Amino acid sequence: MIEKLLQGKTAIVTGAGSGMGKAIAQLFVEQKANVIFADLNIEAAKAASDSFSSENVKAVQVDVSNNEDVAALFQEVEEVFGRLDIVVNCAGVPQVFTEVEDLSIEQWDRIMDVNTKSIFLTTKYAAPIMKKQQSGSIINIASIAGVRARPGLNAYCASKGAAIMLTKALALEFAPYKIRVNAINPGPADTPMINQFLNGDGTLIEEDKKKIFLDSVPLGSLIQAEDIAQASLYLASDLAKIVTGEILNVDGGRGI
Ligand SMILES: NC(=O)c1ccc[n+]([C@@H]2O[C@H](COP(=O)([O-])OP(=O)(O)OC[C@H]3O[C@@H](n4cnc5c(N)ncnc54)[C@H](O)[C@@H]3O)[C@@H](O)[C@H]2O)c1
Repeated sequence: MIEKLLQGKTAIVTGAGSGMGKAIAQLFVEQKANVIFADLNIEAAKAASDSFSSENVKAVQVDVSNNEDVAALFQEVEEVFGRLDIVVNCAGVPQVFTEVEDLSIEQWDRIMDVNTKSIFLTTKYAAPIMKKQQSGSIINIASIAGVRARPGLNAYCASKGAAIMLTKALALEFAPYKIRVNAINPGPADTPMINQFLNGDGTLIEEDKKKIFLDSVPLGSLIQAEDIAQASLYLASDLAKIVTGEILNVDGGRGI
């Protein structure tokens, strides 16, 4: 792999305590970025970042759906690192398969707030910093569920479909400032989240995982967190300097 692709850059990665966010944040540090590991679960964010030099990383507790938390996060990045080049919106919550008449208002609001409103909030606070710099890369981890629906995933599909369209709208809005905005659609991935789609308590058995998820992927394997990290590295780096508004499926062909 090409090394030091992110030398001199500073990144915020949300959801960096687990799964894809953790893999993205760790790869970015290996590629020489300064990285804020942001997560609601601060212990997980600290554990994900503690093998790196404290000069290059910082773990911050944030609820990405909370305006005050997100505003404080972006103030902190400027104070600690003095600039901001990359934001990866990876924090997300799943939906246990639920028919729409059984879905509570609170469940709907939570899924939309964490998966979609969070992107509005982070870009709202990233915009002034990146516009001043006349550069930046924002990457939204959406989902193949944002373009291919599944029964019982009504709110989740809607939240990711909105994330995809918000990516395109922001790409156009920010293009005059040389700020790029792209999204990645992971297919079913081998992370702690996958078990929660079926029963919410993580007790999904391997047979269910295969029947529901694996069989839907033409390439025949679940997506790994590292697959999403490598796609994020491309979009974050200058290798993708002319790429914006792109929705990259990293899904083993699930979206075909
Ligand atoms: N796992 C899959 O099959 C799959 C498929 C497509 C898309 N995705 C999306 O990829 C992203 C990463 O998922 P993952 O599989 O790595 O999940 P994960 O559950 O392993 O990690 C999600 C992280 O987000 C954090 N988080 C949750 N709510 C938060 C909040 N309000 N504020 C801050 N942090 C919060 C959690 O603490 C956790 O560390 C999510 O947006 C998810 O919707 C996942």
